[in-house]
Amino acid sequence: MTASRRTTLSCLLGATALLTACEQDSPSALDPNGPGAAQIASLWWVIFWIATAIFVIVVGFLAVAVLRGRRSQVRVDRDIPWGERFIVIAGVIIPSVILIGVFVLSQIDLSTTSKEDPTMTVEVVGRLWWWEARYPNGAVTANEIHIPAGQPVRFKLLSEDAIHSFWVPRLQGKVDHIPGRVNYLTLEADEPGRYRGQCAEFCGLEHAKMAFYVVADSPERFQSWLEEQTRPAEEPSGAAAEGEKVFLTTTCAGCHAVAGTSADADIGPDLTHIGSRGTLAAGTIPNTRANMAEWITDPRAIKPGALMPPTELTGEQLDALLDYLEGLD
Ligand code: CUA
Repeated sequence: MTASRRTTLSCLLGATALLTACEQDSPSALDPNGPGAAQIASLWWVIFWIATAIFVIVVGFLAVAVLRGRRSQVRVDRDIPWGERFIVIAGVIIPSVILIGVFVLSQIDLSTTSKEDPTMTVEVVGRLWWWEARYPNGAVTANEIHIPAGQPVRFKLLSEDAIHSFWVPRLQGKVDHIPGRVNYLTLEADEPGRYRGQCAEFCGLEHAKMAFYVVADSPERFQSWLEEQTRPAEEPSGAAAEGEKVFLTTTCAGCHAVAGTSADADIGPDLTHIGSRGTLAAGTIPNTRANMAEWITDPRAIKPGALMPPTELTGEQLDALLDYLEGLD
């Protein structure tokens, strides 16, 4: 079966197809691109085919019973010699064997999906309603987590507010972020690419818009990205310098940090390299100048309940601020 056929089939099978259009990059767990997700997908197919076989057999028996019932009077016959034995075999023994078998298979998968030796540990904090990622070299980013393709990376999952769940369907199963606890997850992507992730535990009003991307780069590209992320923001010039003043003197600096400036709050995402990210508002909208303008002036029009307040700026101030933010790459 080709990858696209598999995607189509998984889209057809998934109930999510009823809710969202099946896009090309839909994050289907049945279109895996990492060893963890591949194991989960094969276990899913084993369970799917067992369930299909049982369904066909049960419907077969039902059809026979309906047809026979029509032909003869309904009667309860307690003397069928194999009757009781059949109930014990089909009602107790076979289900027990199947359930125990599936349990053992899933336990084996569970132990092998977290066995790999990770090359690096990245701390990911689930926040209301976005993700913060901290790398061992001090780099901090949000909602776009880069990893080297073909290498297992360990994620240390933390939270201080609500229970979130870190899920990148094409790469690995989901693991919860639980306040006061530390959970771990190992991710590996077979090939470079962008993989959509989603919070998978209801955590409040904007749970549905708590998405993120895992970007798997070639190892060389990943290294240069990682080094780049520790670089402080460059000194802006022209209109962008005016924008920096707006940033530092209005509400922005009260919540966000930009390395190399006096802004060092960590209530909202670190914006030192915001210009290099593909999306805004935790994967909700593409990172374009127009979207950024809308997000700054009225975040709750895009994400009702977002903790970021609206910012009142003159047209000139907003333009300068956008110039500044675009330059943070
Ligand atoms: Cu975070 Cu749902």
